[in-house]
Amino acid sequence: MAAQNNAPLPDGLEIAGYRIVKKIASGGFSIVYLAYDGDGAAVAIKEYLPAALVQRLPGELLPTVAPADLPAFRTGLKCFFEEARALAGIHHPNVVSVRNFFRAHDTVYMVMAYESGDTLQDYIARQRSRNSRVGEAFIRSVFVQLLKGLRSVHAQKLLHLDLKPANIYLRTDGSPMLLDFGAARQTLNQDLPTLTPMYTPGYAAPELYDKTGGLGPWSDIYSIGAAIFACMVGAPPQPADQRRSDDKMAAHFLQLQGQYSVELLQLVRWCLVLEPLDRPQSLFALQKVLAALAPARAALPPSLPPHRPDGLLARLGAALPAPLRRWLGAGARGPSVADSATSTVTSTVAETVANTVASAAARMQNQHNQQDQQDQQVPPAGRP
Ligand SMILES: Nc1ncnc2c1ncn2[C@@H]1O[C@H](COP(=O)(O)OP(=O)(O)OP(=O)(O)O)[C@@H](O)[C@H]1O
Ligand SMILES: [Mg+2]
Repeated sequence: MAAQNNAPLPDGLEIAGYRIVKKIASGGFSIVYLAYDGDGAAVAIKEYLPAALVQRLPGELLPTVAPADLPAFRTGLKCFFEEARALAGIHHPNVVSVRNFFRAHDTVYMVMAYESGDTLQDYIARQRSRNSRVGEAFIRSVFVQLLKGLRSVHAQKLLHLDLKPANIYLRTDGSPMLLDFGAARQTLNQDLPTLTPMYTPGYAAPELYDKTGGLGPWSDIYSIGAAIFACMVGAPPQPADQRRSDDKMAAHFLQLQGQYSVELLQLVRWCLVLEPLDRPQSLFALQKVLAALAPARAALPPSLPPHRPDGLLARLGAALPAPLRRWLGAGARGPSVADSATSTVTSTVAETVANTVASAAARMQNQHNQQDQQDQQVPPAGRP
């Protein structure tokens, strides 16, 4: 069945104790409605309705599925249900709050707390339309919080796999939350059957293109780097499959120099390394480095030449985690640097980065076990 725009449920419809107010969004796999629960609280209800597999005409409640599409529809339905169940067990201020899920109209509905706000995608577009760029302090604040939320997701053995500015929601109070775990169908449990996840070019890690597995927290970390890059540039990075044959990212990072701190740019480059093992391997590792960075400060003058000081690796030695050591040592994939260029200012900057990363790395090992236990404590999953 060809993809089409399916008719939304009619405004005012009562369903499982909720009253639909209006459709607020529709995507390829679902329709999202604003509704009220029995107590009059606003909720967002997401209806599983994959446009490529089902048809629902105006005035109808039940979708029609062609017999040939039934297996795919049912598999997706089961995944949507499982996704809702898993999310209902995650209680974190930076992850959308799933309150209920139920079956009706031959499909599945997920009930979320309604949050007023906007997506990060819209925020970026607004900034660019004003010829303004997304500031470093904003990026740091938003992503430090998002990493905490994503960590609680990974602790439930879920990967997001579709992280991008359109799936990051900014509440009106400015706090961010992760939305749309439509691709969170790939569990970290190797023994469970897996589905090929969907991906968004530019934001998707290269291993998602391979369809041969190898997915892990580092795959979401690639997308985090891509989302920060999109904040900086207003567009996603070059798609990972293209980068494999003709990587143009170094030139983009060169252009960003002077607009954002060296530390933040290096962090994004680290997340966007094509080789999964050379990226930060866990959110904990990423959080520690991000938190250890100096507070956002005035960007360096654009005229500063890119630089990596000689002997950086030698000075840091074994204090660095192996992936970061490999990354710093890999000329083509490392920071955009010109070894010949030296200046007191750039050396000082590089020293600062080196020292910061080194001390973060050293602390990482010591704090890991204790901190990991504390941070990952999630209330037991319970059916809402
Ligand atoms: N809990 C919520 N509160 C308020 N608005 C929400 C909420 N959840 C979703 N929305 C709105 O619906 C839009 C789409 O949501 P979401 O990203 O989950 O679905 P989607 O991209 O349409 O999904 P798919 O691509 O799987 O069909 C969001 O950008 C947001 O505007
Ligand atoms: Mg979405």
